[in-house]
Amino acid sequence: MTNSLSPSDTAKFVAAKRASEMVQSGMKVGLGTGSTAAFLVKCLGERVRDEGLQITGVPTSNRTADLAREVGIKVVTLDQARWLDLTIDGADEYDAELNLIKGGGGAHLQEKIVATASDKMIVIADVTKKVDTLGAFPLPVEVLAFGMKTTQMLLEEMLDGLDVMGNSVTPRMAGDALFVTDEGNHILDLHLGRIGNARQMALVLNQVPGVVENGLFIDICDVIITGHGDGTVEVRDINTGETETGVLGGEMADNVFGEIAD
Ligand code: 5RP
Repeated sequence: MTNSLSPSDTAKFVAAKRASEMVQSGMKVGLGTGSTAAFLVKCLGERVRDEGLQITGVPTSNRTADLAREVGIKVVTLDQARWLDLTIDGADEYDAELNLIKGGGGAHLQEKIVATASDKMIVIADVTKKVDTLGAFPLPVEVLAFGMKTTQMLLEEMLDGLDVMGNSVTPRMAGDALFVTDEGNHILDLHLGRIGNARQMALVLNQVPGVVENGLFIDICDVIITGHGDGTVEVRDINTGETETGVLGGEMADNVFGEIAD
């Protein structure tokens, strides 16, 4: 039954499954967005159903909210929860210092607010997301619709003075129309190739009028759980310096894979 998932989905699933085991009853948990986070939400839903796990989820997008409710997780807003024990989310890239690029799914604004309002952020990712230097994945920047072309021009000019390989900026599309975020804004994707100084980039991007939030997560992630296509999972905690490796397999994986893949 484990064969019902592709190696890429197996990697995402095992990372998500391992993270779901770190959630305890009574916790307020930020629920990320994307295909890896969707595995997490399903794993948590299984624990709610089978073990009576009692958690309160704060979703980072409308689609995660819908999925969480569907699998039986109690959902509240961040304003209702105020502060969270833990956020678990995916990423588009992570480096050795656990700095991230997020926003491939267009949800990084809510994701950053929710992760920042949490005691701990765990990122779940397949091994392809690991990079030496951030920037091969286009960096998403959420911008207001008002004056968006001017914002784009200002960003292009700003990039000229920074340590990057490329400086093209493209509006994200959804078919023929501009992509619209859950907050009603748009996204500009920055094709940088390589970001020499991600900390500086994260700060200066948000100085440009019209920019709402960029997809760089600096010093926010505490733990990275990396999944591999063969079912191996590595857990690395940046605060303790500990790394643990294991394999999620056998009967447990067979049972869960069967239901999650549906
Ligand atoms: C959404 C995100 C996602 O976490 C990121 O795009 C990774 O997605 P996936 O797990 O589908 O690869 O930042 O805004």
